[in-house]
Amino acid sequence: MGAQDFWVVIVIGFCFHAQILSSQNLTCNPNDLKALEDFMNGIDSVIEGWGSDFSPNCCKWAGITCNSSSSLGLNYSIDTYRVVKLELPKRRLLGNLSASLGTLDQLRTLNLSHNFLKHLLPVSLFHLPNLKLLDLSSNDFSGPIPVDIDLPSVQFIEISYNFLNGSLPASICDSSTQLRTLKLAVNYFSGSLPPGLGNCISLEHLCLAMNNFNGSVPEGIFRLRKLTQLNIQDNKLSGALSEEFGNLSNLVRLDISTNGFSGTIPGVFYSLGRLHIFVAHSNRFGGQIPPSLSSSSTIALLNLRNNSLQGSIDLNCSAMTSLTSLDLGSNRFDGPIPSNLPSCQHLNTVNLARNNFTGQIPESFKSFHSLSYISLSNCSLSNISSALQILQQCQNLTTLVLTLNFRGEQFPADPTLQFEKLKILIIANCRLTGVIPQWLSTSSRLQLLDISWNHLEGTIPVWFGNFSSLFYMDMSNNSLTGEIPRSLTGLPSLINGRISIEEPSYDFPLFMKSNVSARGLQYNQVWSFRPTLDFSNNNLNGPIWPDFRKLRLLHVLDLKNNRLSGPIPSSLSEMVSLETLDLSHNVLSGIIPPSLVKLSFLSKFSVADNELYGVTPTGGQFSTFSSSSFEGNNLCGYDAAPCPSGRVDPLGTWFGKSSKDYTGVIAGVCVGFVFGIACFIGIDRHVWTF
Ligand SMILES: *[C@@H]1O[C@H](CO)[C@@H](O)[C@H](O)[C@H]1NC(C)=O
Ligand SMILES: *[C@@H]1O[C@H](CO)[C@@H](O)[C@H](O)[C@H]1NC(C)=O
Ligand SMILES: *[C@@H]1O[C@H](CO)[C@@H](O)[C@H](O)[C@H]1NC(C)=O
Ligand SMILES: *[C@@H]1O[C@H](CO)[C@@H](O)[C@H](O)[C@H]1NC(C)=O
Ligand SMILES: *[C@@H]1O[C@H](CO)[C@@H](O)[C@H](O)[C@H]1NC(C)=O
Ligand SMILES: *[C@@H]1O[C@H](CO)[C@@H](O)[C@H](O)[C@H]1NC(C)=O
Ligand SMILES: *[C@@H]1O[C@H](CO)[C@@H](O)[C@H](O)[C@H]1NC(C)=O
Ligand SMILES: *[C@@H]1O[C@H](CO)[C@@H](O)[C@H](O)[C@H]1NC(C)=O
Ligand SMILES: *[C@@H]1O[C@H](CO)[C@@H](O)[C@H](O)[C@H]1NC(C)=O
Ligand SMILES: *[C@@H]1O[C@H](CO)[C@@H](O)[C@H](O)[C@H]1NC(C)=O
Ligand SMILES: *[C@@H]1O[C@H](CO)[C@@H](O)[C@H](O)[C@H]1NC(C)=O
Ligand SMILES: *[C@@H]1O[C@H](CO)[C@@H](O)[C@H](O)[C@H]1NC(C)=O
Repeated sequence: MGAQDFWVVIVIGFCFHAQILSSQNLTCNPNDLKALEDFMNGIDSVIEGWGSDFSPNCCKWAGITCNSSSSLGLNYSIDTYRVVKLELPKRRLLGNLSASLGTLDQLRTLNLSHNFLKHLLPVSLFHLPNLKLLDLSSNDFSGPIPVDIDLPSVQFIEISYNFLNGSLPASICDSSTQLRTLKLAVNYFSGSLPPGLGNCISLEHLCLAMNNFNGSVPEGIFRLRKLTQLNIQDNKLSGALSEEFGNLSNLVRLDISTNGFSGTIPGVFYSLGRLHIFVAHSNRFGGQIPPSLSSSSTIALLNLRNNSLQGSIDLNCSAMTSLTSLDLGSNRFDGPIPSNLPSCQHLNTVNLARNNFTGQIPESFKSFHSLSYISLSNCSLSNISSALQILQQCQNLTTLVLTLNFRGEQFPADPTLQFEKLKILIIANCRLTGVIPQWLSTSSRLQLLDISWNHLEGTIPVWFGNFSSLFYMDMSNNSLTGEIPRSLTGLPSLINGRISIEEPSYDFPLFMKSNVSARGLQYNQVWSFRPTLDFSNNNLNGPIWPDFRKLRLLHVLDLKNNRLSGPIPSSLSEMVSLETLDLSHNVLSGIIPPSLVKLSFLSKFSVADNELYGVTPTGGQFSTFSSSSFEGNNLCGYDAAPCPSGRVDPLGTWFGKSSKDYTGVIAGVCVGFVFGIACFIGIDRHVWTF
């Protein structure tokens, strides 16, 4: 590099530097500075990057963007910078929003989402002439949206997830003709939807879900020809759906679920030539599925669950070329299970549960190769043997739910059955007889197995211990006998497994919990199943394996109502994730290991009706358990059975006050000795090292 070049570089560098300096010299407009200072004073928390030593040039503060007034086309004798963006999302800001923000007349973007801002929304915010984008979602704002709105430039308003109430002002669209997105979901708005919404002629996305809006959908909405997404689910809207829905020809997603809509579903779907998602579950629709819907070539997800639709299901699969997910559960459909579903080429998720079908699973399902998830619970099905023969040929099937069918039939033992890809199998509450079949050992990818509330006999097979992904096993309420296989103490996914769960598509109702205490409880997502071993209400005997301690990821261990014997292993305290431990109604003996106090997530615990003795542990979660967790033993030290006061012979305490079965207790003490003298020494020192 020659000397000349060197100087060129220096000069260019200097000029560049000088330009930066001169722009730093431009400070923010004094009015803007004042507005931001007021804003800061309304916030109770510290705004990072706005510290006490902040420079008077507010343009340099965190989350502030300025533009020079000349670029903004403003005509000041001295050029200043104007605040055009204020973006402080996710800053843990706490406090009130200052009305002074309304003086930031050049503001284009205001994003204060995901904070803890509270109280009223200042009226002045709704008069910002240049505001394009307003995002105040996920705060604690309450009270109404101001009646008087004048946001002529606004394109995007998002104030979902707050505590706003009152009605939606009719004027919301009067001056906001450029508004493309309006999201006010998850608030407490009430009253009817204002017809004036129809004046937001540019609106593409309207989301008012999860409020308390009532009344019918106003006609104005049907003037919004550009609308692509309409979410009005979870409100109290009612009335019939107007034929004019057909005017919304650009709709891609329509969710009107969980409202009180009634009447028939209008036959407008030929006009909705872009509709991809139609969710209308949990309304009061009756009648049949209109032909325009059952032959829509664009709909991929159709959810009409929990209505009063009737007739036989008659989809035109040659027309429904986009359909991937179909939920018609909990209606009054009758007739046969539609045998043409396999010809819906991309259909992979099917819920037909809780209808009044007759007969069996159609033969045609043998070629249902796209099918991954199916629930046919409570469909009055018969012939489980044929059902499994057919379904095993669905190559892609991973989730099979057949609860409440096949009443009293025999669990097929046919050794040729094979379900290698199955991840979820739920055949509960069918009163099936027989034993747990050997063919199930080929389903080694199972993650979740529920065969509760049947009449199954025999033992729990040892090979379940080899199922590397199994994290949920419910075999409760059968007549199973024998020991709990020791192999289950090695279930990998409960030891250190990362359970990778592939969710069925959006809102697939996986499971209606059938047991009496939780009737109607519906788990929609696999992740909502807590890692569980439930063998309650059987005739199992033998010990509780000390090696259960290895199952550090298990949340629920329910072994109640069996004939399990021996001590409660103190090592169970290593099952650090346990929330429920129910060992009641067995013949367990010995003491309650004090180490269990370490189980810090334990919220449900019972050892009632066993042959335990001694002092109940205290502290930790044990201080929250009621007497019913302990009664029916020779225990003391809980509410209903305080231990005798004074310095009693340790053994005296051990025996408790009732002497239900003196010899049994003595036998128990002798068993206790097997574990060594340490426990007695422990008592003396009031240190439970057992
Ligand atoms: C800012 O500009 C003014 C004149 O417009 C000048 O007097 C002053 O020195 C400048 N300050 C800096 C730090 O450059
Ligand atoms: C500043 O204004 C100019 C001219 O109007 C514009 O091109 C630019 O995007 C603006 N900058 C910001 C950060 O708003
Ligand atoms: C800017 O202000 C000058 C005088 O201050 C005036 O002559 C000019 O017309 C103004 N321009 C605009 C666009 O307002
Ligand atoms: C915030 O607003 C509430 C209600 O509008 C008012 O009671 C409270 O004093 C305000 N707090 C501050 C710090 O301004
Ligand atoms: C506001 O900020 C949050 C967090 O960064 C972001 O997710 C959101 O998209 C922003 N809002 C808008 C309208 O851009
Ligand atoms: C809105 O909620 C406030 C309490 O936050 C209550 O006082 C007011 O009556 C409610 N207004 C309406 C219209 O429900
Ligand atoms: C809507 O609810 C309000 C009470 O919040 C009630 O006064 C009004 O009659 C309801 N309107 C309709 C159409 O149900
Ligand atoms: C819907 O379309 C029909 C036919 O084009 C028309 O008569 C009706 O006025 C439209 N409704 C609305 C609310 O725009
Ligand atoms: C079924 O829909 C009704 C409203 O029509 C609702 O109250 C009920 O909770 C829904 N049931 C389920 C299980 O979603
Ligand atoms: C089903 O749809 C196909 C393709 O759109 C059409 O040709 C056929 O006529 C329809 N069948 C019935 C029974 O409507
Ligand atoms: C179910 O169908 C049978 C006849 O197939 C009928 O007798 C019964 O009433 C139906 N049940 C319901 C709830 O519709
Ligand atoms: C089966 O599933 C695989 C992967 O999930 C997919 O690629 C394939 O297309 C599916 N088969 C059919 C017939 O849909």
